This record gives sequence, structure tokens and C-alpha cells, in this order.
Amino acid sequence: MSDSVRIVEVGPRDGLQNEKTPIGVADRIAFIEQLIAAGLHTVEVGAFVSPKAIPQMVNSDQVLRGVDHHPDSEFHVLVPNEKGYEAARAAGAKVIAVFASASEGFSRANINCSVAESIERFKPVVERARADGVNVRGYISCVLGCPFDGEVKPSAVVNVADMLWELGCYEISLGDTIGVGTPLKAKALLRAVAGTVPIAGLAMHFHDTYGQALANLYAGMEEGVRVIDSAAGGLGGCPYAPGATGNVATEDVVYMLEGMGIATGVDMAKLVAATNAVSKLIGRAPVSRVATALNAKRRVAN
Ligand code: HMG
Ligand code: MG
Repeated sequence: MSDSVRIVEVGPRDGLQNEKTPIGVADRIAFIEQLIAAGLHTVEVGAFVSPKAIPQMVNSDQVLRGVDHHPDSEFHVLVPNEKGYEAARAAGAKVIAVFASASEGFSRANINCSVAESIERFKPVVERARADGVNVRGYISCVLGCPFDGEVKPSAVVNVADMLWELGCYEISLGDTIGVGTPLKAKALLRAVAGTVPIAGLAMHFHDTYGQALANLYAGMEEGVRVIDSAAGGLGGCPYAPGATGNVATEDVVYMLEGMGIATGVDMAKLVAATNAVSKLIGRAPVSRVATALNAKRRVAN
């Protein structure tokens, strides 16, 4: 498997949206700049959602305006509706992500509407985005299980993936929101969705609650998926997904890929430095195994 993988770094959005300690604009920008300096060029930097729903993401407009818009960097922001689209656009967003769920329970908890209603909400957003030359990514949550509805059938995911692809999303990111998936289930799911969406249009967004994320990613790579969402330090989680922990850690993904002979262009030392800096701000150690190992090694060496 020696080819290339695109990493979508979601730490500044998914990573920080669930933290008790809110991080201010200047620190969020500094974190993003450190990630870019480490070689992560596609970064999800914020969310234009209700401040009552996710207070941690307030001032995402200032964050998006404040980051260095170097031609090599691509910044993503979440948008749930037209109001969010207008704010994102006014702040200069060039790539937005709409987010649906494969399960009704999570859709209701997260965005206060049914799955079908969410697709209706996204239609004018995607239409306006396309007219404005803005690219739209589509997320599907709870693809391998839902905290409210339990088991989620691959057919439910295929159905939502089909709708988002037909709307005009350039990529569908499949979210194991509560990290309950296991490799063979992940494989079967990706095979099913690839019947509707070309494999090159799929991304894997796996949370690591049960420690299966890396194994699931490997299984998905065997199916041909080459886009991976991850968060520096393994930060992350959704306040509307009770019990879920962070995203798979970017350090751990990079270590696995490099070990497989897949160059990521990521400078591990700089990435760990970014993780350590943000961990200090939120007041807890990174959960990334690789960051933990490298920090311990450095302490011994000093
Ligand atoms: P609602 O209450 O049904 O919406 O919420 P509404 O249209 O009735 O508006 C209610 C209030 O929100 C109004 O304000 C609106 O102006 C305001 P009020 O009059 O009460 O003062 N409002 C907004 N404010 C700012 N930006 C907006 C916006 N829209 C309405 N865009 C809504 C519906 C979708 C807005 C709300 O439920 C919401 O914002 N939800 C977002 C939840 C969220 O961000 N969750 C985390 C991201 S998803 C995730 O983490 C999963 C993912 O990582 C993949 C995975 O892991 O599976 C992507
Ligand atoms: Mg997530």
C-alpha cells in the first residue's frame, strides 16, 4: 500500500468543540498555524453553528479571517443551515461541510431535525455554495452505531451518502461518531457505500472511543479509501454523542502511514509540539499514544 493519503486535520473544530475550557481566538489561530507548519495543509478551523449549541465555536469568523490564507492551505468550516452559510461566506469560507446523520436519534439531538429535513435544509446551502464557487463536503454521523438508536444498518448510510452526493458534495466523510466500529464492519460499510459514491469521494472520520480507530482505518484503506480525518492529540468528541471520546490522533495516523511507507509530509516533532501547546491550554495530557511515547522519550533524553 505505498501511495498517498490526504489527512484532514479536524483538531481545531472537532477537537475543541467538546472541551470544557473554551479556547480564545488568538490561541485557536496559533494552534492552526502550528498544524500548518507541521505540514497539515487541510484543516477544519471552526463551525458556524448556534452558539447555544456549541459555545466553544463562537467567533469562528474571526478564526477563519485570522489564519494565514497561504495558497497551499485549505480551511474547512461546518455549516448547518443558510444562516451559517451566510456567516461563513462573509468570513471568506471557500470550503464548507454540511453534516447529516445516518440515524434519526442523533440527527434530532445534534441538529434538531429529522434526516430528511436536514437534507432539505442543505439543498439551498449547497446551491448557493456552488453558485459562489464554494466546495461542499458532506459528513454522515453514526455510520457504525448511534448513541440513541443503537445499531445502524449500512443501507441507512448508503441512503444518506447517495443524497449528499447527488446534492453535489465533492466528498463524503463517514463518521464513527461514538467509535464503536470494528474493522470488518468498517470494511463492509465502505464496500456498501462505494456502490453509490466513488471510493475516491469517501473519507473516514473515526472516533477512538473503543480503541479501534486505527484498525478500522487500515481496513478502510484496504478497500481503497485515501482520505483520513484526524485530530492532533486525539482531541475531540461531540457534546450530542454521550460517552464518545476523541478522534483518532493525527500523530498515531501519521506514525502508522509512515510505517507503511506512505509519505505524509508531516513533521512529527512539530505536530507533537502543536499538540503539547494545545494540551497545556485545555489542561490535560494528550491521549495520542505516539505523542505520549515521544514526550516520554524526550523527558528521558533530557
Ligand atoms: P434550532 O434551534 O432548531 O434552530 O437549531 P433555529 O433555526 O430554530 O434557531 C435557533 C436559534 O439558533 C436562533 O437564535 C437562531 O438565530 C440561532 P435565537 O433567536 O434563539 O437567539 N441559529 C444560529 N446561530 C448561529 N449560526 C447558525 C444558526 N442557526 C440558527 N448557523 C441548529 C438548529 C442546526 C442551528 C442547531 O441545532 C445547531 O447549531 N447545531 C449544531 C450542533 C453541532 O455543531 N454539533 C457538533 C458538530 S457535528 C459533529 O461533531 C459530528 C462530526 O464530527 C462527524 C462525526 O464525528 O460523526 C461532523
Ligand atoms: Mg467527529
